[in-house]
Amino acid sequence: MNYDDIQGIVLQERPTPYVGTYVLLSIDHQQDGKVMLKRLLDEVTSAGQWNNPHEGAWVNVGFTYQGLQKLGIPKESLNSFDLEFREGMAARAAKLGDVNESSPEHWEDPLGTDKVDVALALFAPTKEALLQAEEAARRIHCELNGVSVVYQLDVGMNPDGRTHLGFMDGISNPRIEGNHIPNAVGQEAEIKAGEFLFGHLNESGTITQGPQPAELGHNGSYLSFRKLHMRVATFRRYLREHADNREEEELLAAKMVGRWPSGAPLSLAPEADDPALGEDVSRRNAFTYGDDHKGLKCPVSSHIRRAFPRDSLQDSVVNVNIHRLLRRSTMYGPILPKGVMEDDGQDRGLIFAGICSSLSRQFEFIKTDWLNGGNFAGMSTEKDPITGKNEGEGMFTIPDKPIRHRMKEIPSFSITKGGEYFFVPSMTALRWMAELDQHTSKEE
Ligand code: HEM
Repeated sequence: MNYDDIQGIVLQERPTPYVGTYVLLSIDHQQDGKVMLKRLLDEVTSAGQWNNPHEGAWVNVGFTYQGLQKLGIPKESLNSFDLEFREGMAARAAKLGDVNESSPEHWEDPLGTDKVDVALALFAPTKEALLQAEEAARRIHCELNGVSVVYQLDVGMNPDGRTHLGFMDGISNPRIEGNHIPNAVGQEAEIKAGEFLFGHLNESGTITQGPQPAELGHNGSYLSFRKLHMRVATFRRYLREHADNREEEELLAAKMVGRWPSGAPLSLAPEADDPALGEDVSRRNAFTYGDDHKGLKCPVSSHIRRAFPRDSLQDSVVNVNIHRLLRRSTMYGPILPKGVMEDDGQDRGLIFAGICSSLSRQFEFIKTDWLNGGNFAGMSTEKDPITGKNEGEGMFTIPDKPIRHRMKEIPSFSITKGGEYFFVPSMTALRWMAELDQHTSKEE
């Protein structure tokens, strides 16, 4: 694996703690866009350049389909991108369940519009270090009238290290075969690199075809970016109204997620949270659902069991390994102080960032068939309780003895505020894009 060719965000974990900023750019003039491409070559951080996640600052880049069009990428190359990417996330809204409150007409401007061409993702372990990345981002577009910043969003780890709903995230990620970077995460069985990188062997035993020519596609990926606003007060009130006491509230929330707030999985700690387990990198992910077919420990409909059913589907024809994602999600917005039950009107939530080599088979399949669907587990009337489009009519079954509990009238706890599909090119591809005029004039 060529660490110096692959962007850091694909192979490296973000630092812990982390701060970051997403900067979205619009290209108004192709010539300035081309100057920007050349500058990117000096500023983008490859996986090989980010060896110590406790220091430095990290700049990564992605392009939307129309961004590539505006940069003058040849038609045959544009046509070689997957249909979902060419259409863009907003056009896929109905399929993804982004309807009603979550539909693109309510998205935050400019998300989902033709103004978003380029995304810069800046990360660092400290605010001081992030300044370096911000400086690099400025160098990329400064004094270019034809390239403008159209959106900026700061992200960062919450003080308690958890998501706004109070749960540790970023625990489970696939391990990529051939990625021997010391800080690469994942205790699970390895997944073939072609599930996340074009031009590599995948879980179906073939080489993942990426965009053409190979200089453009090889070592690149797709990134699904979603701004998900979280209704924290609504979540807290739902738990309060449907539980008899605080312990039951915590249990109900854990059943919905599939893990306790500390990150300890219900499969290994079914009765109560176990913070030592939650912190133990070697144990907190070492579980399957084979001994819990009915979901008595971890409900079949919980967020993590839907998002990655592990061995739950062994008897079916589904190969779970072809539906995996590398998650690089981050938090945004101020926390809602503990105990506050009313919404304070602030925007807070999660920037979901999922890396894959097939948007349809990975991100879209997980979102539609597993999170918003349920046929796979005999749960066709239910949706994911955490991210599903529940809209006050959601149901969630908690298997128990002697009888199961069925939670009803679940509201939507997460609302989509925008989203984009990005192409995350390799360093070779960036160079190829920057030198495009030279290739075409040579061909002529
Ligand atoms: C507001 C939105 C979301 C919240 C609050 C959330 C929260 C969480 C939490 C707390 C975990 C457990 C920690 C871990 O295993 O790393 C988790 C795991 C996971 N989530 Fe989400 N998530 C959200 C959206 C999504 C979306 C949109 C997807 C995919 C389309 C997704 C896919 C996953 C996957 C694949 C896992 C790992 C499951 C496993 O390997 O066991 N999540 N999420």
